Amino acid sequence: MNKKRVGILISGRGSNMRAIVEAASDPNYPVEVACVVSNRPDAGGLAYARSQNIAAQAIDHKNYKTREEFDSVVNDYLQSQSLDIIVCAGFMRIMTPVLIKPWEGRMINIHPSLLPLYRGLHTHERAIAAGDKEGGCTVHFVTAELDDGPIIAQARVPILKDDTAETLADRVLVEEHKLYPLALAKVALAKDI
Ligand code: GAR
Repeated sequence: MNKKRVGILISGRGSNMRAIVEAASDPNYPVEVACVVSNRPDAGGLAYARSQNIAAQAIDHKNYKTREEFDSVVNDYLQSQSLDIIVCAGFMRIMTPVLIKPWEGRMINIHPSLLPLYRGLHTHERAIAAGDKEGGCTVHFVTAELDDGPIIAQARVPILKDDTAETLADRVLVEEHKLYPLALAKVALAKDI
């Protein structure tokens, strides 16, 4: 099988990255995780990636004066890895076109809301405060507009009477771990990637 080479961008614990790495252990999954990059050197996900013999690179955004400089270094690293697809998995940086443009149509993100609702941060708090009956998560292509690219897949969960942002986030995360590997496989199998 001709597997697509994927690079994953993270900032923290990397549980979505882990779900994808686990999916990729199936010989029939159309993706090979080639590398993981974190903007935070202390991200827990880096240690996990290393434990799986995946190249894991910290590129600390604090070492760069501008977003563009940081994005350029990240893009250079990704370009050096001969990747087909970039997966943002809890990558908590606003990206500039320096990083987005070279990967347009080949860079995806997971966002913890039912887009187009609640772009940005504190999605679960906002869904509860609005009295929504449902929350969820969305996998979408990354474009220059924050959390705004074409939607690939969504998963929904009911919002319960006693939900807090934390309990809702936990339930949505369970769905993220199922949705992201499926959505990535769909992108990897698309003809023009
Ligand atoms: C996930 O819930 C993801 O949807 C969210 O951060 C969490 C990362 O968890 N992403 C965003 O909020 C992006 N704006 P993880 O590091 O365990 O995958």
